[in-house]
Amino acid sequence: MTKSGHDRTILITGGAGFIGSHLVRYFVKTYPQYLIINLDSLTYAGNLENLKEVEGCSNYRFVRGDIRDKNLLLRVFETWSFDGVIHLAAESHVDRSIENAQDFVETNVQGTVNLLEACLEQWKKGFSGKTFYHVSTDEVYGSLQHKEAPFEESSPYNPSSPYAASKAASDHFVRAYGTTYGLPYLISNCSNNYGPYQFPEKFIPLMIRNIIQEQPLPIYGDGGNVRDWLYVEDHIEAIDVIFQKGRQGETYCVGGGNEWKNRDVVRVLCSILDKKLGRDEGTSEKLITFVKDRPGHDLRYAIDFSKLYGETDWQPKTTMKQGLDSTVEWYLQHDDWLSRVTSGEYQEYYSRMYGDHQ
Ligand code: NAD
Ligand code: TYD
Repeated sequence: MTKSGHDRTILITGGAGFIGSHLVRYFVKTYPQYLIINLDSLTYAGNLENLKEVEGCSNYRFVRGDIRDKNLLLRVFETWSFDGVIHLAAESHVDRSIENAQDFVETNVQGTVNLLEACLEQWKKGFSGKTFYHVSTDEVYGSLQHKEAPFEESSPYNPSSPYAASKAASDHFVRAYGTTYGLPYLISNCSNNYGPYQFPEKFIPLMIRNIIQEQPLPIYGDGGNVRDWLYVEDHIEAIDVIFQKGRQGETYCVGGGNEWKNRDVVRVLCSILDKKLGRDEGTSEKLITFVKDRPGHDLRYAIDFSKLYGETDWQPKTTMKQGLDSTVEWYLQHDDWLSRVTSGEYQEYYSRMYGDHQ
């Protein structure tokens, strides 16, 4: 029992982002006996409006803070004594990393090392009951050819983009802290997520927004690149299961078993939205525009999640049809969210809620 009367105090980093906000809502509601601290610096990708549902909950606190700032982290770790850290804060968009890798090195690599150091400092008297859970990506493994076997935990690292390289480096640091200092850790490498609250620079929400607004649908190259799509709520269940039942020092691959060519995803989205918006079938497909390919564009990702399934029974529950349908429906129902994100208005929410300082 902690000083605040909770069983455990858990730090979630990046909890105002896409996956992080789903995870924070889930943990705050599922575990009223835990105190959940959400640390997020609120970059363009962080949106506190995603967390309205849990804002007033007595087992939830938000701290605006940057993991690049080690002194800030040490202060946060002086305020709370954490039993577990689930680390999601990251720069996460490949195209931005191609434009400018610097932020990816600073946040994804240095920021992760800062957090590992803060954990080590706090937990050095005893690691028992502590866990550093690092949420990573399948992109660290590089690209598969069409007929190759899916990635698994023992696949060699071969990152293509600066984003993937920075996540690969952070994975290596987490393992090195485990090997060198005995820090208890878990890592999961997950495939592409989609669902509500995803920032509309990523493929699926970008296409949904552009179809709704009758804007061009920019498909890179010939659209034959393949991604293994996982509905975000299924990923949250995997994170929960790994956090609660994963074996310390282990890595788990998480995926949807759901490979799609990009151009086929766009066609399905066009068809769903034509129906929902009362447009003639085939109308939105006319917006498809094949554009210059992304440099270093990975051809295919696919994940073999049999280790996680074998140890915990976890498997994705949501079919692509159900997932895309409910994602499209969410964006249609939340056009106010979408327009505040597009206009940048969402960034004012923090000062309205918390004032300019915390
Ligand atoms: P996101 O970009 O939507 O959210 C990232 C969050 O981190 C934002 O709230 C942002 O404000 C915060 N952040 C960024 N830099 C920070 C810093 N220096 N200090 C504190 N907070 C900072 O990302 P996401 O898609 O939700 O991904 C979350 C994690 O999951 C990332 O680590 C990503 O690598 C990993 N992941 C994502 C996917 C996917 O498909 N989205 C798949 C596998 C793994
Ligand atoms: P993205 O959502 O950026 O995820 P990642 O690159 O991490 O897999 O892109 C998913 C796929 O969609 C990827 O193959 C690139 C492609 N893509 C487009 O064709 N057009 C776009 O405008 C974007 C953003 C992505």
